[in-house]
Amino acid sequence: MEASFWLDKWKRNETGFHAPEPHTFLLRNFPALKLSTGAHVFVPLCGKTVDIHWLLAQGFRVTGSELSQIAVESLFQDLGYKPEIALTDYGPCYSAGCLRVFVGDIFRLDADALGSVDAVYDRAALIALPQDMRRFYAAHIVQITHAAQQLLVCLDYDQTKRGGPPFSVDERELSTLYAADYTLTELEAVAVPGGLKGICPAQELVWLLSPKRL
Ligand SMILES: C[S@@+](CC[C@H](N)C(=O)[O-])C[C@H]1O[C@@H](n2cnc3c(N)ncnc32)[C@H](O)[C@@H]1O
Repeated sequence: MEASFWLDKWKRNETGFHAPEPHTFLLRNFPALKLSTGAHVFVPLCGKTVDIHWLLAQGFRVTGSELSQIAVESLFQDLGYKPEIALTDYGPCYSAGCLRVFVGDIFRLDADALGSVDAVYDRAALIALPQDMRRFYAAHIVQITHAAQQLLVCLDYDQTKRGGPPFSVDERELSTLYAADYTLTELEAVAVPGGLKGICPAQELVWLLSPKRL
C-alpha cells in the first residue's frame, strides 16, 4: 500500500474506518494492560481516532504516528487543542498537552524519537497493511517500542472473498509475527454485524500481547 493511497483517502475524505465513538474493545479491555495514570501509550497509524480522546481523558500520555497531515490537524482540532509544530528529523511533530503526533511514515520513526513506551494500542494499524508490509511493521513496532505490551484489534475473515484494507490477520499470522516476543492472549472475539461490508462473515478480535522478557 503506497503512501499516496492513504493520503488520497484523507484528501477525498474517504475515511469510513474512522469511528465516531471510542472502540468498545478499548473501553472493556484497556485495563488488562494495568497501566498507571501518566503512562505513555503509542498509537501507530492513528488517523484522527477518538480512541485518543478517550486515552487522554483517562490521564495517559499519548504519542501517535500518522502519514496524513489532514488527519493530524483534524485530530487536534476535534480535541480543541492548538498544537505546537516542531520540525524533527522524522518529520513534523504536533504536540499539545499530553498528546504528540509524528506526521510521516512510521517506518522512519525510531526508538529515540518515540521515547520509552508503556503500551501500544493498535486498532486498524496492522490490518491496514498488506501481508508483505505486515512483517516489517511488526518487527519495527517491536524494535522501536522495545517490545512494549500491546492491545491489538484485528479482523479475521476469508481473504479470498474480499481484498483489503482492512486485511484479515488470523491467529496463525499473528503468532508468526509476534510469538517470538510476546505471549498472545485472545481477550474477545465478536462477529461483525452483517459481515464485512455485507460481503462475507468476519470476526473482530482483540488480543493482549504480553512481552516474554518480563
Ligand atoms: C485504517 S486507518 C486507521 C486509523 C486509526 N487507527 C483508526 O482506528 O481510525 C490507517 C491509517 O494509517 C495511516 N497510515 C498508513 N500507512 C502509514 C505509514 N506507513 N505511516 C504512518 N501512517 C500510516 C493512514 O493514513 C490511515 O490514517
